Amino acid sequence: MTGRVAGKVALVTGGGSGLGKADCEALAREGAVVIVTDVRLEPAQKVADAIGGVAMALDVASEEQWIATIRAIEDRFGRLDILVNNAGVVLSADVEGTTLDQFRFVNAVMSEGVFLGCKYAIPLMNRGGGGSIINMSSTGALLGYPIFFAYSAAKGAVRSMTKSIAVMCQEKGYKIRCNSVHPGAIETPMVQEAEGRPGDEQAVPEGVLPAGSKGAPADIAAMVLFLASDESRFVTGAEFVVDNAVTIRPF
Ligand SMILES: NC(=O)c1ccc[n+]([C@@H]2O[C@H](COP(=O)([O-])OP(=O)(O)OC[C@H]3O[C@@H](n4cnc5c(N)ncnc54)[C@H](O)[C@@H]3O)[C@@H](O)[C@H]2O)c1
Repeated sequence: MTGRVAGKVALVTGGGSGLGKADCEALAREGAVVIVTDVRLEPAQKVADAIGGVAMALDVASEEQWIATIRAIEDRFGRLDILVNNAGVVLSADVEGTTLDQFRFVNAVMSEGVFLGCKYAIPLMNRGGGGSIINMSSTGALLGYPIFFAYSAAKGAVRSMTKSIAVMCQEKGYKIRCNSVHPGAIETPMVQEAEGRPGDEQAVPEGVLPAGSKGAPADIAAMVLFLASDESRFVTGAEFVVDNAVTIRPF
């Protein structure tokens, strides 16, 4: 088999929609066996059917489900080479408007979900000789967005956990790399919801995009694919901003 991730086994969370779906498509196209997981089994199954992958229901906030999923992958494939911790939810509320329950929910999915994914995947990856973990953070981890308070807190935790895990793996001699990806605004159902236009998918033009444009899910999948492949063997503990310059503009 040929391809940039040929023969590797990959698990993607939140793979039924948006960025996770694009990651699954890119990984499968380049030769990986892809386990498409999502809290909603139906869209995950659709993606898996389209790419020749395997669908599994996984709520990333559930420790029991993570344990069962990793066990099922070990039983069926014997290894795990790539983990994309992508699942997420968005909440538009500033610190004054956020309830404790909302804060805990958002962080249970995106902070605890990434923690649990790494915790339970690392031993299996290690038994198979190593792997690559890609954690989906956001420019929200780097900027001060008032209305993405709980979301930014979770994404900041993802950024920091990534670095801690990368160094731990090096210190313990595991051949596991761990990096975070920080997308700017990408045209997905999450962004359509946040902007009050659910189901209104806008086409992203080809070529270099002007400032203020939204990117396409494939723009993030291209970075995920690089980090998943052995091309990035010297890359760990790093953060990859894919935002068409949003975070570095001085005005
Ligand atoms: N779209 C953007 O502009 C953007 C920007 C920065 C970061 N991100 C991040 O990228 C990731 C994917 O976002 P998206 O835009 O594709 O969103 P999306 O809403 O299109 O897809 C998210 C997927 O995650 C799943 N999900 C939600 N809660 C889950 C849970 N508890 N367990 C498992 N799956 C769950 C949903 O069912 C859905 O399929 C998220 O982590 C998001 O924060 C997105």
